[in-house]
Amino acid sequence: MSSDIAQHLAEIAAEMASRSDRGQVAGYIPELAAADPGQFGISVLLADGSQHSVGDSAVPFSIQSISKVFGLAIALGRLGDQLWTRVRREPSGLAFNSILQLESEGGIPRNPFINAGAIVTTDAALGRRPPREYLAELLTFIRTAAGDEDIHIAKSVARSETLTGHRNFALAHFLASQGNLTNPPDHVLGAYFHQCAIAMTVEQLARSGRFLAGLQHLIAPERVRRINALMLTCGHYDGSGEFAFRVGLPGKSGVGGGILAIAPGRASIAVWSPGLNAQGNSQLGTEALEMLARRTGWSIFG
Ligand code: DON
Repeated sequence: MSSDIAQHLAEIAAEMASRSDRGQVAGYIPELAAADPGQFGISVLLADGSQHSVGDSAVPFSIQSISKVFGLAIALGRLGDQLWTRVRREPSGLAFNSILQLESEGGIPRNPFINAGAIVTTDAALGRRPPREYLAELLTFIRTAAGDEDIHIAKSVARSETLTGHRNFALAHFLASQGNLTNPPDHVLGAYFHQCAIAMTVEQLARSGRFLAGLQHLIAPERVRRINALMLTCGHYDGSGEFAFRVGLPGKSGVGGGILAIAPGRASIAVWSPGLNAQGNSQLGTEALEMLARRTGWSIFG
């Protein structure tokens, strides 16, 4: 299996290098707009503990919304099923930063991965603590998951998004007006922008997904199962159905161009290419995962 994977990854990287349509780099966070769309990296951590990587696999990038998976694990650890009184578990069918449903649905976001839901989840994970305490716990969680201390927050990215994050401010203030935040919106967004600004390589990210693949015990298996269900149904926003159709694995994307995908019991996979498709998910990352799932037969649908 190990040598097959190395061969698959080499062929996938060669195929991706030949692509001229690489999507659009996220422009609304100025620090991310400078990314080079020519970059591509992929890493696969297998159940036998071996790891295979190709391309720009040692280049740190902004994990952005992939951080919502780790934030959700912490919020569930603190609140348990109580969290589900404040955020639902349904796909939204709308853009990740949409405001549309929030008013008509009484300030209860559809799921923890759209921005409104992640803001509520971050508020729950914060509890009564100052944001820096939550961020320290989050970094410890991710470093433990990855088995790597060299994972940090890129403060310049957090600052950049704070200056341009008008939609997230609108969402947070609307949530507060509906009584669905327990902390001041500025505190919650401070924590949220900093968690989105965590930088990791695909090698680190693939290792940090081991607990979701059932290859490392960090949280209860019942929670792992539920996080994977949400990744499959909501992890790619209004592109979630398409991702399930093409790749068939639970996955979570970020506007930095990363995707973490889980083949339960088999592998944790991280891919990165900064160009995004129309739904804000990595264009080549999705294509690479589609190729990998087809070649390995890892789709959870057989
Ligand atoms: O809140 C935002 O807009 C960003 N910090 C994260 C968005 C994101 O990564 C959406 N994913 N594709």
